[in-house]
Amino acid sequence: MQHTTKQNLKKRLFSVSLIALVVSACQSDMKSIEPEIGLKDAYADKFLVGATMNDHMVADHSLANTQIVKKHFSSATMDNSFKWGPFNPEPNIYNLTGPNNFADFTHDNGITPVGHVLYWHSQTPDWVFKDGEGNLLTRDALLQRMRERAKFMAKHFGDKIKVWDVVNEAIEDDGSLRRSLYNKIIGDDFIEQAFIIANEELPADAVKLYNDYGMTRKGRVSTVIKMVNDFKARNIPIDAIGIQGHWSMKDPSVEEIDANLTALAATGLKLHITELDVDYLGRENLWGANVDLDKIVANAENNPYPDGNFPASADKALGDRYAEIFTVFLKHHENIDRVTFWGVTDADSWLNSWPVAGRTNYPLLFNRDASPKNALEQVISVGLHYK
Ligand code: GLA
Repeated sequence: MQHTTKQNLKKRLFSVSLIALVVSACQSDMKSIEPEIGLKDAYADKFLVGATMNDHMVADHSLANTQIVKKHFSSATMDNSFKWGPFNPEPNIYNLTGPNNFADFTHDNGITPVGHVLYWHSQTPDWVFKDGEGNLLTRDALLQRMRERAKFMAKHFGDKIKVWDVVNEAIEDDGSLRRSLYNKIIGDDFIEQAFIIANEELPADAVKLYNDYGMTRKGRVSTVIKMVNDFKARNIPIDAIGIQGHWSMKDPSVEEIDANLTALAATGLKLHITELDVDYLGRENLWGANVDLDKIVANAENNPYPDGNFPASADKALGDRYAEIFTVFLKHHENIDRVTFWGVTDADSWLNSWPVAGRTNYPLLFNRDASPKNALEQVISVGLHYK
């Protein structure tokens, strides 16, 4: 019954959006057309759809990007401001303006806020791992420091943050544990200790997840599955698995995505796609030269559209790729709680500077001028057509 009502609602929304498209197409010769309904509405009964925000966006709600988030997204993640470095760069120094604005903005707009990230080897200041004399901390002292961070979050934000990325990127492609300072100081039970602390200190209702990239690489995926099953067997609390989803036009294939979602969901944990983007320009032809990646500079070959004009045919190809990815997500919607894009417009994307500095990349659903790409319409259409 419920299902039928939702299907009817979707059909109605789709016809409204088609009419709106035709009307606005007649009124304007703009290259893209603002869809009548939000992306989140096309997936409303399937999973949350999110995007990242930054300090400017949460401070000034009149910004085009903030307006896009209000219209199109039902979840949001701060791209940097909760990371240990930006949040707490020195002992007892806290940068809370952005995080506070984020908590208020998401609350006032009914958007599910995600805290990214409690413990990550990157963007974490040196002081975290050292004592006053500059010596590496003992295991107990680092665990205590991690606990203080979780305590601070709980005290300051209470239950305002609904989802926490507890640990990010602690497992390598081959499935071995990353030899980060966390791992060196604490030992191989670093991830487990992080979840015990998070569970003891953060609100019980907050969803606590393990997040990583390359979640179609055999080694990493099998270690994550083993780890989750082991945690469950020993009552170590973990709620969800975060799949970053920094993908390109061909890699990973939809078959690989499909198979890995099936395998990860078999743990019984919910899945969150946490950092989705499609690197349109790609990296495939960059590795071969065996040059240090940070020495590769933008040139005519690896940076074909430097002026910000994304050709219609490329927009269509990007839309097709996103459409096939979202079709797989929909197939797994009972196990997927959220799909979050890493950025709102192409101007926000980290892929303009990685792995090639100074490229003009086009990985997201909104152009640099905040106008929607046709790819957005394709993704909305996939959601509305799903039966
Ligand atoms: C990683 C991190 C994110 C962000 C992205 C892209 O995946 O989890 O916080 O830094 O890289 O920059």
